[in-house]
Amino acid sequence: MNPLIRVEDLRVSFDSTPVVHGISFELRAGSCVGIVGESGSGKSVTARSLLGLNGPGATVTAETLAIGDTDLLTAPEARLRRLRGAEVGYVLQDALVSLDPLRPVGAEIAEPLRLHGVPRSQREQRVHELLHSAGVPEPRLRARQRSGELSGGLRQRALIAAALALDPGSSSPMSRPLPSTSPSRPRYSTSSSRASAPAGRCC
Ligand SMILES: Nc1ncnc2c1ncn2[C@@H]1O[C@H](COP(=O)(O)OP(=O)(O)OP(=O)(O)O)[C@@H](O)[C@H]1O
Ligand SMILES: [Mg+2]
Repeated sequence: MNPLIRVEDLRVSFDSTPVVHGISFELRAGSCVGIVGESGSGKSVTARSLLGLNGPGATVTAETLAIGDTDLLTAPEARLRRLRGAEVGYVLQDALVSLDPLRPVGAEIAEPLRLHGVPRSQREQRVHELLHSAGVPEPRLRARQRSGELSGGLRQRALIAAALALDPGSSSPMSRPLPSTSPSRPRYSTSSSRASAPAGRCC
């Protein structure tokens, strides 16, 4: 089976300062890839490169940078917009600033569903299912709360729920390990978010 993600000699620089120096990896369906490195070594920049989210100041080159049949170096922005959320979910690193403090968490998770045309009548139930599958206890209560009312671990799980909202068929880059919400839970989000998922995971 062909890899879902192919990265070969990825290099990223900002204002001609290199921050990613030629990383290569593949991700196959049902598998996880962990990228380990010290702070500032380019893990998040690598993950963002998979979604074309490094911003206009970034120069991104690679021998290969592809998700499925989509060449990320040449794909038009409209194609990348369809890819984000629907085919690739991205769990942002900083849960506190990634969730709108003024909106209920459930509304945040429902946003990608709304953007991709899921009818309003189906969204609430889907949000509860997503929170449950991301390991959030009392999903109905949590969906009504704002991010400031959740613990750090629950906030990160809410971001995982949002990233998986559209059941991305390809992969879900995650920018860092998930703090466990209880001692019995696995410490890394890749194994706790959806254990039986057929999709690939990249952290
Ligand atoms: N938009 C940007 N403009 C300029 N420099 C950036 C930008 N984004 C990231 N960098 C720089 O790129 C380098 C890699 O950052 P990155 O966020 O990928 O690190 P990381 O490996 O994820 O670190 P951490 O483990 O702390 O999350 C850092 O030196 C960072 O300052
Ligand atoms: Mg990071």
